[in-house]
Amino acid sequence: MKTILITGGAGFIGSHVVRRFVQQHPTSMIINLDALTYAGNLENLKDVEKAHNYAFEKVDIRDAAAVKSCFDKHQPDAVIHLAAESHVDRSIADPLAFVETNVIGTANLLNAAKELWQGAFEGKRFYHISTDEVFGALGAEGFFTEETPYSPNSPYSASKAASDHFVRAYHETYGLPVVLSNCSNNYGPNHFPEKLIPLMIHNILQGKPLPVYGDGKYTRDWLYVEDHAAAIETVFLHGQNGQTYCIGGWNEWKNIDLVHVLCDLMDKNLGHPQGQSRGLITFVKDRPGHDLRYAIDASKIYRELGWKPQETFETGLAKTIEWYLQNEAWLDNVTSGAYQTYYVKQYA
Ligand code: NAD
Ligand code: TYD
Repeated sequence: MKTILITGGAGFIGSHVVRRFVQQHPTSMIINLDALTYAGNLENLKDVEKAHNYAFEKVDIRDAAAVKSCFDKHQPDAVIHLAAESHVDRSIADPLAFVETNVIGTANLLNAAKELWQGAFEGKRFYHISTDEVFGALGAEGFFTEETPYSPNSPYSASKAASDHFVRAYHETYGLPVVLSNCSNNYGPNHFPEKLIPLMIHNILQGKPLPVYGDGKYTRDWLYVEDHAAAIETVFLHGQNGQTYCIGGWNEWKNIDLVHVLCDLMDKNLGHPQGQSRGLITFVKDRPGHDLRYAIDASKIYRELGWKPQETFETGLAKTIEWYLQNEAWLDNVTSGAYQTYYVKQYA
């Protein structure tokens, strides 16, 4: 039986990855290592928590000794690393937290893997999950590819870029068998409502203003989270050591157009008159260093590994909205307490 240690498995993307691996790989043991920050929620994994091949370890990746003892205990054959501070706005308010978790935390994991495997790398793999934001901002034309130079603009993307470089360095210097992927913006169930799509859904449900930064003309490439989880499984199983794979949805939207679509879908689902939610849109002060456009050319992963997204934006958004409407208790739970303080500070 192989042991696969997944970090950040209680978060948005991580929970979908853990569920997929627990269900699709019954002869592998899946260890979910997570510190349970504000973004981590074991409720996301209720349906698999009793599976014979699943275990949870509450560990903070900033703590090298705790990481090492978790590796000693479980002896993982592979690591899929998603744990991170992941929100750009929070990185602007508190950049050092991003250095600690995303840079030092990643280095702690790399070290623990290197020490456990001691050069016997056959059958081992360290898979680092990164973001397209490391490439910086695109103008109106063009796409990010695996060859695009790094040019991060926010403390979040700078910390992810630094962690990517450490992963590559461990491959080049120590021969650690690594693979990386850089993905575009995800959306779907269990997304914490500090990010655009779930924040808008939550605010529409509450009848609160919908804060659109700047002129709303910023563009993102959206991918349904289950498609990302499937891509991660594909890269994990078939990706080549030392390689990077760009993952995206071929699905670019200007924020304001996306918010309009969301408003109309929510009105339809809630039986509100069309136009009611659009009336909540409020243009607010822009995010400093706001990247104009992200868009991924995901042809390498399709050409070499055969992955492409299965959901259209229409089907993915319909599933997402349905999930939030059926899980208002989840939303209420994660938006009580500390979320209120964050929200007031961010949108005052
Ligand atoms: P998330 O914020 O929803 O979840 C992060 C998880 O990491 C949480 O469970 C949290 O408890 C855990 N965590 C945070 N700090 C930790 C620490 N010090 N020790 C242990 N665990 C810790 O993030 P997400 O959106 O699911 O993103 C997961 C990964 O995917 C991140 O590495 C992110 O950079 C990357 N990514 C995200 C997106 C996106 O659109 N959300 C796109 C591309 C790449
Ligand atoms: P976000 O979901 O924070 O993802 P990222 O910054 O990692 O791309 O934001 C997506 C886009 O939506 C980004 O251009 C910023 C914008 N945005 C708003 O206009 N209002 C908001 O309240 C938030 C959270 C984001």
